[in-house]
Amino acid sequence: ADASLLDRRDRPMRDLRISITDRCNFRCVYCMPKTVFGRDYAFLDRDELLSFEEITRIARVAAAHGVEKLRLTGGEPLLRRGLEELVAQLAELRTPDGRPLEIALTTNGSALAMKAAALKAAGLTRVTVSLDSLDDELFQAMNDVRFPVARVLDGIEAAQAAGLGPVKINMVVKRGLNEHEVLPMARRFHGSPFTLRFIEYMDVGNSNGWQLDEVVPSAEIVDLIGAELPLQPLGATAPGETATRWRYRDGGGEIGLISSVTNTFCGSCNRARISTEGKLFTCLFASEGHDLRALLRGGVDDEGLAVAMASIWGARDDRYSEVRSSLTPELRAARPKAEMSYLGG
Ligand code: GTP
Ligand code: 5AD
Ligand code: SF4
Ligand code: SF4
Repeated sequence: ADASLLDRRDRPMRDLRISITDRCNFRCVYCMPKTVFGRDYAFLDRDELLSFEEITRIARVAAAHGVEKLRLTGGEPLLRRGLEELVAQLAELRTPDGRPLEIALTTNGSALAMKAAALKAAGLTRVTVSLDSLDDELFQAMNDVRFPVARVLDGIEAAQAAGLGPVKINMVVKRGLNEHEVLPMARRFHGSPFTLRFIEYMDVGNSNGWQLDEVVPSAEIVDLIGAELPLQPLGATAPGETATRWRYRDGGGEIGLISSVTNTFCGSCNRARISTEGKLFTCLFASEGHDLRALLRGGVDDEGLAVAMASIWGARDDRYSEVRSSLTPELRAARPKAEMSYLGG
């Protein structure tokens, strides 16, 4: 395998995001609205999911191709039984020059207090927790299953205490829904060990009814916070990073802005995604993935898998966020996308 694998826009593959379940115990209104993900929604069967062995094989081949960071997502990854076992298998993998991979996890935090220590022991590197509001009433309305905010905050503390920090906290900001929570969130985590990141609401999937005027531009958030807690821009720490970083001038830590609508970052996008059923997607907004599970279950060897991944990545030309603004709502609707819970954030 070739560790300098490049796509058609000269972007390497460095980050592999793996959705390990399409299920979630939350029904966030912008991600899995109950109108679509209702009582009789057909989630995948167990044998349709990649097994831990299959996931580890794909990750091993990806590492040979230059991937240095794995991110486990979903759905809610903590719902997958035996997750610690998977983490332990992934922790055995090495880059071509012998370094362990970074293994991160994106979670809603609901089961984190219970699982943080075991995950750390298994070899997990760090976690990112989604949290859209500190106001319990609003938080419960946004997750739409009446899950209390206090338990997510406990999960964040537990992860930090277990050594899975610095914990990042992701807040999706939607106009008219939780934008008034931006300042309370900033105040709460200012001076804490946690890095708060604001995500522009995106048109992922087909079910959230996204409209451009529901996006709160990152520049507006920086102005809002900066007026009360002065900010200073920081440079990128890693190539291909999604977040623009700012530090509090008083030394109270930093925040991040993920501006996938107003300040796109496709030019250096080094992220590949594996869907819950083993399809390789080369963009968060792709309509279709490439079926690696069929290859695995058809008996392909590691060399064959490496060749297949190289040819998929080599043909990659995606840059959806950059072309979004030139699409009319009709064109956007005519172009089906995979759901984020299936594809992985
Ligand atoms: P770290 O900074 O190392 O924690 O990783 P990261 O920046 O990839 O962070 P994370 O996985 O928490 O991603 C944050 C959010 O950014 C995701 O949940 C998505 O909403 C968004 N995001 C991540 N990758 C992409 C991408 O490739 N394209 C777009 N448009 N959005 C992305
Ligand atoms: N726009 C932006 N971020 C989203 N997420 C889920 N759906 C969207 C969307 N439509 C975020 C979650 C979580 C991460 C996995 O992606 O809140 O932080
Ligand atoms: Fe579940 Fe995360 Fe989607 Fe919310 S954003 S429904 S917690 S997968
Ligand atoms: Fe990468 Fe696609 Fe996101 Fe652009 S829109 S940053 S190409 S995943």
